[in-house]
Amino acid sequence: MVAKIVDGKKMAAEIAEDLAVKIAKLSQKPHLAVVLVGDCEASLIYVRNKKKAAESIGMKCSVHHLAERTSEKELLDLLEKLNNDKDVNGIIVQMPLPEHIDSDKVLEAIALAKDVDGFCPYNMGLLHANSKNATVPATPKAVLYMLEHTLGNISGKHAVIIGRSNIVGRPLASLLLNSDCTVTIGHKQSVDLQKLTAQADILVSACGVPQMVDEKWVKDGATVIDVGITRVDGKICGDVDFAKVAEKAEFITPVPGGVGPMTVAMLLENTWLAYKKQNKLG
Ligand code: GUN
Repeated sequence: MVAKIVDGKKMAAEIAEDLAVKIAKLSQKPHLAVVLVGDCEASLIYVRNKKKAAESIGMKCSVHHLAERTSEKELLDLLEKLNNDKDVNGIIVQMPLPEHIDSDKVLEAIALAKDVDGFCPYNMGLLHANSKNATVPATPKAVLYMLEHTLGNISGKHAVIIGRSNIVGRPLASLLLNSDCTVTIGHKQSVDLQKLTAQADILVSACGVPQMVDEKWVKDGATVIDVGITRVDGKICGDVDFAKVAEKAEFITPVPGGVGPMTVAMLLENTWLAYKKQNKLG
């Protein structure tokens, strides 16, 4: 193996420790409200991890677990209540939502100041316009943090992202462009995707196809960030064939222990930032 491992678990623990010290000094603790509709197995695990991580640093975390059959109106009513609750600093609605609920409508209903996922359209617009006021979604923010703490300045590098979701691919493209990378987004309809990824200085895979990216997709000395988390035969699996790609890349993230824990750390940081802004702390 040639590649050095980018240790997301260690980075996340350092960020959490830093936040815990700040929160310990407060009498009124930051409060993250998590809304989950239905019983999607992956979502239940993500929400449990977020609550555990928030509480471990002294943050308050309330989980509002609604039944699959919950109507759009009931969900919007809950969001209005949370928007108006002075004790709540951050709100996230775990995605995906059941099909009978319009997720665009739901994301639009979250108060801008409490949108700690950064998914509401106004926030997305701020990010795309390179505004310093944007709340950056947790997974793209985690990827940028890991890149900058591994490579230093990434200006001018060619970043190729596999996947164009609203949660990862699209906001990450903006974020990397804002950091002066040259950005390519590849997706299911891209012609000869492998030819594109093989040109990448930075390759980020967020497509959810287990082990799709092997050494043929990767340039010598590239940095490879694996956002994929898929359960295969009970085991968590990334998009990248770690053993093969580690022979060629210079840096690589593991799954688990890479982007996953860093995403949670960035959500906690966004909640802390929202709290600071709402309480007019420096
Ligand atoms: N589903 C997958 N990732 C995320 C995330 O970062 N936030 C929310 N709300 N839902 C998700």
